[in-house]
Amino acid sequence: MSAQKIPTKIVIRPFRLDDLEAVMAIEPSAFGEHHWSRQSFVSELNKPEGVYFVACEGSHNKLIGYSGFWIIGDEGHITTLAVHPDYRGQYVGERLLVNNITEAKICGANWLTLEVRASNEPAQNLYSKYGFKTVNIRPHYYQDNFEDALILWSENITTEGFDTLFKNRIAELKRKEEEFADFSRS
Ligand SMILES: CC(C)(COP(=O)(O)OP(=O)(O)OC[C@H]1O[C@@H](n2cnc3c(N)ncnc32)[C@H](O)[C@@H]1OP(=O)(O)O)[C@@H](O)C(=O)NCCC(=O)NCCS
Repeated sequence: MSAQKIPTKIVIRPFRLDDLEAVMAIEPSAFGEHHWSRQSFVSELNKPEGVYFVACEGSHNKLIGYSGFWIIGDEGHITTLAVHPDYRGQYVGERLLVNNITEAKICGANWLTLEVRASNEPAQNLYSKYGFKTVNIRPHYYQDNFEDALILWSENITTEGFDTLFKNRIAELKRKEEEFADFSRS
């Protein structure tokens, strides 16, 4: 992707019930007709194992993305990750993933996992930047088009090897943020 995008200052904070209206405005464009309902989100936010965040565009405090995971033992199960279509390609999704990894480690996770549609190349590329690999396939898993689900797993996120990769990726993200800032000033 080109770095010359509209700059955005992103704030990531915990997901609150009063974020639901803005989240439900994004959800169908991200996941189609089988998207989560408002009630599903309420139930997720009430689960003790659920850890959810939103990304807001700093200057307007506009909610433009969200993500979260369940903590099950030493595993973090990423349940959702979505960015408003107008704000894709600006590293909002990546910042939400970085936040998930950081928070999952704080919660005691050693591993992260998720399911993704076989056709979802943007998401697969994003996770692969952080070392996630396909370890299994659930054939015809999605009921709308019987598409396969890929089951991705991270490597052990507490290892030195992962830490090096993670720090390098964060440094790259910071460089891109600076490029965005320069672009907005020019
Ligand atoms: C997947 C999604 C969250 C990515 O968010 P985003 O903010 O647009 O992505 P980012 O700008 O952070 O991109 C980070 C990396 O993801 C990959 N990526 C993102 N968009 C991509 C695209 N259109 N094509 C290919 N790779 C893409 C790239 O590897 C990119 O890094 P790079 O530019 O350095 O190569 C977003 O496309 C989305 O909301 N999709 C609909 C919901 C969804 O599919 N969620 C994932 C469910 S598992």
